Amino acid sequence: MDDSIPTYTAAPDGSLSSEMASAYREAGVIVLHDFVSSEACSALRQRALELVDAFDPATVDTVFSSATDQHQADAYFLESGDKIRFFLEDGAFDESGELKQAKTDSLNKIGHGMHDLDPVFDSFSRTPELANVARGVGFEDPAIIQSMYIFKPPRIGGEVVCHQDSAYIYTEPESCVGFWFALEDATIENGCMYFIPGGHKLPLKKRNYRDESGAIINEILDESPFPEHLKIPAEAPAGTLVVFDGRAPHLSAANHSKKSRHAYTLHVIDQKCCYPAENWLQRGDDLPLRGFDQG
Ligand code: FE2
Repeated sequence: MDDSIPTYTAAPDGSLSSEMASAYREAGVIVLHDFVSSEACSALRQRALELVDAFDPATVDTVFSSATDQHQADAYFLESGDKIRFFLEDGAFDESGELKQAKTDSLNKIGHGMHDLDPVFDSFSRTPELANVARGVGFEDPAIIQSMYIFKPPRIGGEVVCHQDSAYIYTEPESCVGFWFALEDATIENGCMYFIPGGHKLPLKKRNYRDESGAIINEILDESPFPEHLKIPAEAPAGTLVVFDGRAPHLSAANHSKKSRHAYTLHVIDQKCCYPAENWLQRGDDLPLRGFDQG
């Protein structure tokens, strides 16, 4: 496996050169600097803060934990595929049940349907430049299946253990690709992502799905551990887009710093593939899947 993450300045129209596309295929991840303007990053952060303003944390007790997947026991999480819902950090509350930090600095994420339900998120998520990236990484008929606004708040932003997104967003054949936007500078200090370059060539280690009773199953497909000693930090200045294969192993450390690390992600599947009814992430028929075309 190579020991670096391919990093480029984004082309103005978002298109990937043949060198960039082949670097992506080899590493399973590509970092594109200056993909989004600072104005667009600020506008999305502003909109997220407006949504948070209207959210009452007393109405929700679902915390998100990648280590335990305990959030998947809650209908509030499981039914969020076509809604805008708010998930708190594991360490958000003190012993008396009060938030330790400001509301914005207590949230793990907002998910999972903003790109279809909120006009500001919709227009950020659907641009000709993104359509060109999708084409460049091999999509024929892309559809954005989920969006997440990730806060990674100062001091309590939780660790995300090493995983492959296709374990959760599984299609047959596999087609999931993550589009991750740095809305603030992501550094080693505030919990940037790490990737194992070439790790997308490893088998899919796990499948997470609901059985007929609705219970969440984590089926282990491959017992061998991820070679985490090969992980490389993907530091990303605000405005960077990181695109990664659904099989690409990735993780992020806890944020113990004083700086938040806001990011926005889209997960994209190819509609030519089968999307199983047992995936946890589902949406109602009233909200059909859409690709990158606006309107
Ligand atoms: Fe992930």
